[in-house]
Amino acid sequence: MTRPIHILNGPNLNLLGAREPEIYGALTLGEIEQACAAHARDLGFDIVFRQSNHEGELIDWLHDANVNASAVVFNPAAFTHTSVALHDAVRAIEPPVIEVHLSQTAAREAFRHHSYIAPAARGSITGLGLQSYLLGITAAVSCLGN
Ligand code: DQA
Repeated sequence: MTRPIHILNGPNLNLLGAREPEIYGALTLGEIEQACAAHARDLGFDIVFRQSNHEGELIDWLHDANVNASAVVFNPAAFTHTSVALHDAVRAIEPPVIEVHLSQTAAREAFRHHSYIAPAARGSITGLGLQSYLLGITAAVSCLGN
């Protein structure tokens, strides 16, 4: 049986919809999940969609994805700019990991310009709102040769 695509979300993304909508848009995380599930289904994949405010839990979920996922779409949120541990976890696992961001981090504050995740990820898609996630799923599937 084909393994699902795991879509992992970092801190504060549970507040989407209410949190700085001028930057992150009006969609809630639940609405993003529904759109991701529909897009993945069109490409022949189920998804596992998770959010955590805790770095260690995200590391555990990357380890779980190593065993149970075809690929990972990962929005590490603020941990993007701080976490060597998440960099190491992304490097440590086999499935392709696509880094995604809703906002265009390169056009924002200087502290958002560096990603610890990008050098470990297969690719990165930023600045396109919901489309970053949907393109991330498409990219993840194309990495699998499907
Ligand atoms: C974000 C960008 C990060 O800089 C920020 O800390 C977030 C969300 C995005 O999706 O645009 O929480 O990952």
